[in-house]
Amino acid sequence: MRILSGVQSSGRLHIGNYYGAIRQFVQLQQEGDAFFFIANYHSLTTLRDAKLAETYTREAAMAYLSLGLDPKKAVLFRQSDVREVLELYWLLGTVVPVANLERATSYKDKLAKGISADFGLFAYPVLMAADILLYSPDFVPVGKDQIQHIEFARDWAVKFNLTYVPGYDPQDPEGKEKGHAPGLLKLPSARVQEDTATVPGVDGQKMSKSYGNTIDLFGDEKEIKKRVMGIKTDSTAVEAPKPTENAPLYDLLKLMLPADRFAEVDASWRAGGKGYGEYKKLLLATYLETFGPARQRYAELANDPAELERILQDGAERARAEASGLMQRLRRAVGVP
Ligand code: TYM
Repeated sequence: MRILSGVQSSGRLHIGNYYGAIRQFVQLQQEGDAFFFIANYHSLTTLRDAKLAETYTREAAMAYLSLGLDPKKAVLFRQSDVREVLELYWLLGTVVPVANLERATSYKDKLAKGISADFGLFAYPVLMAADILLYSPDFVPVGKDQIQHIEFARDWAVKFNLTYVPGYDPQDPEGKEKGHAPGLLKLPSARVQEDTATVPGVDGQKMSKSYGNTIDLFGDEKEIKKRVMGIKTDSTAVEAPKPTENAPLYDLLKLMLPADRFAEVDASWRAGGKGYGEYKKLLLATYLETFGPARQRYAELANDPAELERILQDGAERARAEASGLMQRLRRAVGVP
């Protein structure tokens, strides 16, 4: 089984990235042939500062390693180190219906906010499909917000195969039956952990860099404390039972606490008698306990940029070896020498 996924390096990583995605990456590297990358080309759709772009890319790599990804088990690499991805992006783009891109959520959201979109944002899902299809994974572990992108990748892979592979039958994509040919592009599936599909931010909306509602994984402790203490709550009195709906504090406690400890919290939350402040302190303590060791490793890695670069170069080489074989076959299929 092959697994591939990535995170954008458009800012600091937050606990939504961890629970929605990276935690699964760490488990999955034990189960199959895993590729995890840093989508630094994608980040240029929102980040226009060379120094910051490099910093966030490096930080994302440090986050991967300190949270438990092991370069001996998984291939860890920067998207931009395998330039073939841009070539596949173009080839795919020639079969992508514009109507698909017009209903891509990130593009639609931007337009709805009255912000004019650049071509890079419009074409974002095509580059993401290229990221995936270049490495022929079976599964792509992601949070819920990325499912549409993976469905697009699947649809476009079918369309590409239908266009360029004689004997390809979408009902038999692996070409198992006689007379059928396997597709050049393998069809990927999203893999979403249901209980952490959408992690809420401190304001109750989806946690996202672009909403400014994140709890960062490696941020300054004072800043984290400020964010946690600022989690949106209602005006229910201390002694009264607390509502569990639309309550990001409750949801975050559920996410972060082990089940037995959360059961106690849940009972007292429903019974009343404790103020929100106490629950916030518990959440902060849980955060520090959970991420303390990773934060420590992160600080150590920050002192060894040469080792980090060596790991990324090694990952790039392994990723490139994989990508170049497929790219040669694709060039032949479309008639590009
Ligand atoms: P990005 O960088 O926004 O997020 C990285 C991963 O974290 C998940 N995630 C969340 N999960 C649950 N709750 C949240 N609040 C939350 N916020 C983020 C995302 O679902 C994602 O799995 N387009 C991608 C990056 C990308 C990619 C790829 C992913 C580029 N190419 C190829 C997989 C395969 C993105 O912007 O994710």
